[in-house]
Amino acid sequence: MFLSDPSKYRHQMLIRINVFLALVIGSSLLLLGIIYCFASNNDISKHEFQVSNKKEFQLFRTAESEDNTDLINKLKRDLATANEKIEQLENKMQGFEERIKKPYPNVKYLNYRSKKRILVTGGAGFVGSHLVDKLMKAGHDITVVDNFFTGVKANVEQWIGHANFELIHQDIVNPLFVEVDEIYHLASPASPPHYMFNPVKTIKTNTIGTINMLGLAKRVGAKVLIASTSEVYGDPEVHPQPETYWGHVNPIGPRACYDEGKRVSETLSYAYAKHEKVSVRVARIFNTHGPRMHMNDGRVVSNFILQALRNEPITVRSTI
Ligand SMILES: NC(=O)c1ccc[n+]([C@@H]2O[C@H](COP(=O)([O-])OP(=O)(O)OC[C@H]3O[C@@H](n4cnc5c(N)ncnc54)[C@H](O)[C@@H]3O)[C@@H](O)[C@H]2O)c1
Repeated sequence: MFLSDPSKYRHQMLIRINVFLALVIGSSLLLLGIIYCFASNNDISKHEFQVSNKKEFQLFRTAESEDNTDLINKLKRDLATANEKIEQLENKMQGFEERIKKPYPNVKYLNYRSKKRILVTGGAGFVGSHLVDKLMKAGHDITVVDNFFTGVKANVEQWIGHANFELIHQDIVNPLFVEVDEIYHLASPASPPHYMFNPVKTIKTNTIGTINMLGLAKRVGAKVLIASTSEVYGDPEVHPQPETYWGHVNPIGPRACYDEGKRVSETLSYAYAKHEKVSVRVARIFNTHGPRMHMNDGRVVSNFILQALRNEPITVRSTI
């Protein structure tokens, strides 16, 4: 076929060469375009990087050159304030932790057979709070009832929140309904300035209050201990006083509200024991002193201690 028409053959060859050249040139141009694009993109990011670096460098230079010492001093002051605030916060946190973490004194474990439910009236007072400590440590369930006339919560705060402990703010002149196995009835002001402050109230506490406690004991079948006093002997003519001594009391004297109140309290206890078969104990407490005692107790030994602590002359009274 070629040999038959050489001019035709030349024409076809020329066409092929042209197409080949067009392809080579086209793809070269395309390649160049791609390379250019990549190169220009790189140039942009490089430029941006240089610009941002330049800015930081400029800022740094400004700070360094302008007011270097002022800036450092300001930073130092800020740091000191921050440290002060951190210290304040740490102290606050420590205070909170101390309040939250409450290590109770050790309490014995008792099973349900030996664990008793015990009510202590006047349990926030001096004698009562020590009794509460003893009973709590022995592992019993304790309920304290107090009107805080002379007692304070601080005396029993070591037990507040404990599973075995409950504090009721109530006046025992009002009836109380709780299920208990034992009652320690100590609620009554004990020192002359306190029981003479409101004589009628003192009599009510020792009579109506005692009836309420004995009535409760009768209803729930609880044992009761009544805190009486050596004051039931009044102004005694016998020394020391045996339990058989009936006393020498002025029923209308300044101390009568307490002396007679406690005497009625004892009479009530024996009446409930004899006629209602309530298991009653009466403890005649003589002057007792110790930690948690009221500052204004007003009795001789505590007065001596207070005056000594205040570096004041010690007062000794005498009838001679
Ligand atoms: N401390 C002594 O030397 C002494 C001596 C003899 C008898 N006592 C008797 O022992 C008991 C305790 O005496 P104390 O020295 O602990 O006295 P205290 O004053 O420290 O305690 C008496 C507690 O009874 C509370 N109370 C008073 N009236 C109340 C009422 N109507 N309702 C509820 N709570 C009331 C008080 O707030 C206080 O917490 C008293 O009955 C007292 O007569 C004490």
